[in-house]
Amino acid sequence: MNKHVKTYAINTFGCQMNAHDSEKLAGILENMGYLRAAEEADAGLVIYNTCCIRENAENKVIGNLGFLKHQKEKNPGLLVAVGGCMPQQEAAAKKIKKAGVADIIFGTHNLHMFGELLQEALDTGGKVVSIWSSSDGSDDITATSVREFPWRSGVNIMYGCDNYCSYCVVPFVRGRERSRDAGVILKEIELLLADGVKEIMLLGQNVNSYGQPGGVAFPDLLRRIAALSVPRIRFMTSHPKDFSKELIHTIKDCENICRHIHLPVQSGSDAVLTAMNRKYTRVAYLKLLDDIRTALPGIAVTTDIIVGFPGESEQDFEDTLSLVKEARFSGAFTFLYSKRDGTKAADMADVVPAHVAKERFQRLLDTINPIAMDLSREWEGKATHVLVEKLENNMYSGRGNNNTPVHFPKISEGLVGQIVPVKINEGKTFYMLGEQL
Ligand code: SAH
Ligand code: SF4
Ligand code: F3S
Repeated sequence: MNKHVKTYAINTFGCQMNAHDSEKLAGILENMGYLRAAEEADAGLVIYNTCCIRENAENKVIGNLGFLKHQKEKNPGLLVAVGGCMPQQEAAAKKIKKAGVADIIFGTHNLHMFGELLQEALDTGGKVVSIWSSSDGSDDITATSVREFPWRSGVNIMYGCDNYCSYCVVPFVRGRERSRDAGVILKEIELLLADGVKEIMLLGQNVNSYGQPGGVAFPDLLRRIAALSVPRIRFMTSHPKDFSKELIHTIKDCENICRHIHLPVQSGSDAVLTAMNRKYTRVAYLKLLDDIRTALPGIAVTTDIIVGFPGESEQDFEDTLSLVKEARFSGAFTFLYSKRDGTKAADMADVVPAHVAKERFQRLLDTINPIAMDLSREWEGKATHVLVEKLENNMYSGRGNNNTPVHFPKISEGLVGQIVPVKINEGKTFYMLGEQL
């Protein structure tokens, strides 16, 4: 056995849910006596926690697996495991097998069994492939996770997604929507608080639809969590179709819920929104924004936008640009549409040529960025609270209450992991500069 074999590295390719799954894997491994390697190149076990939301996410994984193949030739004792969303999709799973470097392949629904799969691979020296098509509930193991940052933790409130947006692979790779029991969630948060956590990120593909009929709904859950005196609470993602008035009131009533909402709009054209199966209109989205901002002045709203969805005309795209101007987002994740096998949009005609989509993408950025810059500059002279994440070159960095990265010079020691008041001196497009108060 290789002398480094009891060290591990996890490479996370996906979303926050995926990143939290990596923390659960780390928990399983550390319980088995494994130690985190300083670098992937030093590890005896390398796990890739994969994503297949867009083709480029998949390509990145396959490219990296090619690199690992060379590593393995130099170090035959190296164990490679590939898990997460790609194995849940037949075509993507095939690509992983074809890359020929994985000793263990596992999916999203049996992540909790990783310890057993690893043991089997070690005992037999052979390849282990175990992918479940759905969850049986036993994958609910968050409490044993090892956190990347001691002061911050994701908490799953639900798994899966039932929305079937026509472009999206998530319902196929994460299964049906399942809400966790409110009591279990609260208990987990109490333990995290006792362990020094200052910021909780509630995770779900559509947190607003949390709960069973007649049971605890998302605003009630938020109120109960806020009552535990968590210093900072965030949640993502909010689907606009399910964002209730009660949720707006709840955020307003609870000061420890951060003043930031991620509210993916995807497109500003009703025709495209319908084809995407998003179940809201442009007018309804803008009205929701207006309600949110009337109740919560100054709240930061960020979004996701897809460019080049099948059938998107120049006029549809201009509707997206005009929505961006009206909505005034503090930031936006912008994506070129990527065709995903098995989704409804994969069969849609009227594909937007790549050069047209790319040109629109640039125009979209040119519209988003100056607005984000203006909103950032509105913070100049005002104060925010920053959860400090790191100290580099005598500058502390962290995120403000509104989730914008903030950098400020060090004038005191030991602020990493603390929530610190900072006065903003200069707003930039993607970050702000300030001084400690
Ligand atoms: N559940 C969340 C988002 C999950 S995926 C929600 O509903 O908002 C994150 C983002 O990836 C989506 O909001 C969407 O903008 C983008 N996305 C998903 N599938 C895509 C695809 N096939 N091509 C391009 N972007 C995609
Ligand atoms: Fe995908 Fe839509 Fe579900 Fe979000 S809500 S995960 S975009 S299907
Ligand atoms: Fe997340 Fe990617 Fe899976 S976005 S849910 S890791 S497909």
